[in-house]
Amino acid sequence: MHLNKTITAARRTAGIDEYYFSRKLAEVRALSTAQNPVINLGIGNPDLPPPPEVVDALVQAAHNPQHHGYQPYNGIPALRQAIARFMYRMYGYQPDADNMVLPLIGSKEGIVHISLAFLNEGDEVLVPDPGYPAYAAAARLAGATAKTYTVNSHGAPVNLDELRCLDTCKVKILWVNFPHMPTGRMADRQMLSDLLAFARERNLLIVNDSAYALIGNADPISLLTLPGASEVALELHSLSKSHNMAGWRLGWVTGKQLFIESILKIKSNMDSGMFLPAQLAAIAALGAERSWFVGLNQIYNSRKEQVCKILQLLGCTWQTEQAGLFVWAKLPEGVSDTALVDEVLYGARVFITPGSVFGVNGKGYIRASLCADVDKIAEAGSRIATWKQGKPQQKEAVPLKS
Ligand SMILES: Cc1ncc(COP(=O)(O)O)c(C=O)c1O
Repeated sequence: MHLNKTITAARRTAGIDEYYFSRKLAEVRALSTAQNPVINLGIGNPDLPPPPEVVDALVQAAHNPQHHGYQPYNGIPALRQAIARFMYRMYGYQPDADNMVLPLIGSKEGIVHISLAFLNEGDEVLVPDPGYPAYAAAARLAGATAKTYTVNSHGAPVNLDELRCLDTCKVKILWVNFPHMPTGRMADRQMLSDLLAFARERNLLIVNDSAYALIGNADPISLLTLPGASEVALELHSLSKSHNMAGWRLGWVTGKQLFIESILKIKSNMDSGMFLPAQLAAIAALGAERSWFVGLNQIYNSRKEQVCKILQLLGCTWQTEQAGLFVWAKLPEGVSDTALVDEVLYGARVFITPGSVFGVNGKGYIRASLCADVDKIAEAGSRIATWKQGKPQQKEAVPLKS
């Protein structure tokens, strides 16, 4: 007799909430009507298409009846070679395509695979605050816990003295994310070298999540090009933002063979390879000329100007030098980010992300996305201006020089 036995979710799910955007975007959708849709400046979901040759490659490959079967767990060799060439062309880092590159179904799955491959129950990881919530969630899935370190919106992005004060006895992974989301902070070679030296000193695996490396960043640097990186570092890359291919789920992890083999043990038990036409299209994407990135960044720059007008209306201050798909801005003292975001959502029908979603250090900040065309951003601005007319005056905004 098993009638009283209840079916419960595994303990590992207990510490993990549904992803903020999964909940909030459902609320945004429910609020939207066909006549009056909410303008979404909340997420980094590129609205522009990939290079045309990428779509052509996919379509052409999909017509081939031989292209619909399972594929190698570690990607086809031609994709790994294209990734290795791309890494060399963009960053001057040349991994061995046979055993130092692992294509991924987006870099987010890499965060989980790396966590499952390297963490044991009771281990700890260091994650940036504010920061991408997936690092801590993946650690919890692996039975580990996350400790935070601060990413500053001014001055040095990471305070090494603060980092050195942390007890790292149980820490196994140091997650870094440059260019950093949500602050848009970039790290120069010195900052990366210092973080690397810290990881080596404390015997940590340092993983740089480089998803935004090619957006609004004049000097993309791979952590793996720094002396001493090869023994302790991995790097995640993605086509989601740089090539407008977020829905395609294409990324990769690169680093030393032993690490890649450990990750493959997890990955090969979770999925069964990637759709061949998508891999062939990724090869086409990786061949995009530099002019592609120049054109893309020009578009984002003009959008940024419009987004800053909105931030000005909201009385925010922000750093002018930010990489990535967002502008990260500080609200006037005493204004709650979550309350303001809801007021703007329900009052002006514009969705912006509250900074506290990214950690306690994000409290009092908001993150506005560049993933909407200039006219839509301008429309969001006029909705907010109209909504604000009925509100008490706020302080004037001041953009800060970096
Ligand atoms: C910092 C950061 N890393 C990784 C990702 C995941 O990107 P993807 O899985 O699409 O490659 C995102 C997505 O928004 C992100 O913001």
